[in-house]
Amino acid sequence: MKRYISLLAIPLFAFASCAGGGTTAGAGKGIGADSMEAKLANAKPIDIRMMADPYLSDAEVAELMKAMQNSAPDTMEASLERGKKIYHDPTLGNGNAGQSCASCHEGGGSIGGAATTEVIKPGGFVFRPKLSIPTLKGAAVSFPKPRGPRRGFMVNLPAMNNMCISAFNKGQWIDQNTQASVDLANYISSFSKGKKWKPGAKKILPAGPVAGAM
Ligand code: HEC
Repeated sequence: MKRYISLLAIPLFAFASCAGGGTTAGAGKGIGADSMEAKLANAKPIDIRMMADPYLSDAEVAELMKAMQNSAPDTMEASLERGKKIYHDPTLGNGNAGQSCASCHEGGGSIGGAATTEVIKPGGFVFRPKLSIPTLKGAAVSFPKPRGPRRGFMVNLPAMNNMCISAFNKGQWIDQNTQASVDLANYISSFSKGKKWKPGAKKILPAGPVAGAM
């Protein structure tokens, strides 16, 4: 019934506008100048600005609209495929360590052992923490979680991925607002399929902790 009234609303509103009747009092709830039907009927392409960054120029908004109208639907499979490629890319973030995510987290698991990274603290103090390599099977459901030597700051999964990119792949962080960041996090999440969300849970070390490592 509601749908039936809605369908009537557009012609009613259109008639009232043509007749110059400034306000459309409407014949019932949802009908009138403020109704969604009326707004949609009057929407101009530029109204997409409502969804966009208010600081975009008209030209950028037009470009965005064109891209949105022409883009083919993305799929889970395609995103996972892209994520898998990133995961195996040793040049990720222009990294020069010659290793990809898979070098330590092979097949989403752990190669075992520990990895050392270098942190230069203010004042030039160099700190080289040795960190046990966790499996990523079941890791995604443990985010967000506090991390760092003193578990001093909260991170989400893409930020954690970035930490490995900079610490171990020796590459630049990926902007979290990019498709690459989403695809990589999506791929890591696929190793947690069916697992229950356990935010804050510690990393999983299938072979147990490594002596002398965090
Ligand atoms: C040199 C080995 C190495 C490489 C290469 C590496 N990682 Fe890691 N990864 C680690 C270690 C060690 C930790 C544990 C860090 C810690 O304890 O703070 C870790 C932790 C993680 C975690 C958090 C797991 C959890 O349960 O807390 C994620 C997610 C992760 N890595 C993803 C990645 C991704 C994505 C890449 C590729 C961009 C990557 N790693 C590359 C060694 C590596």
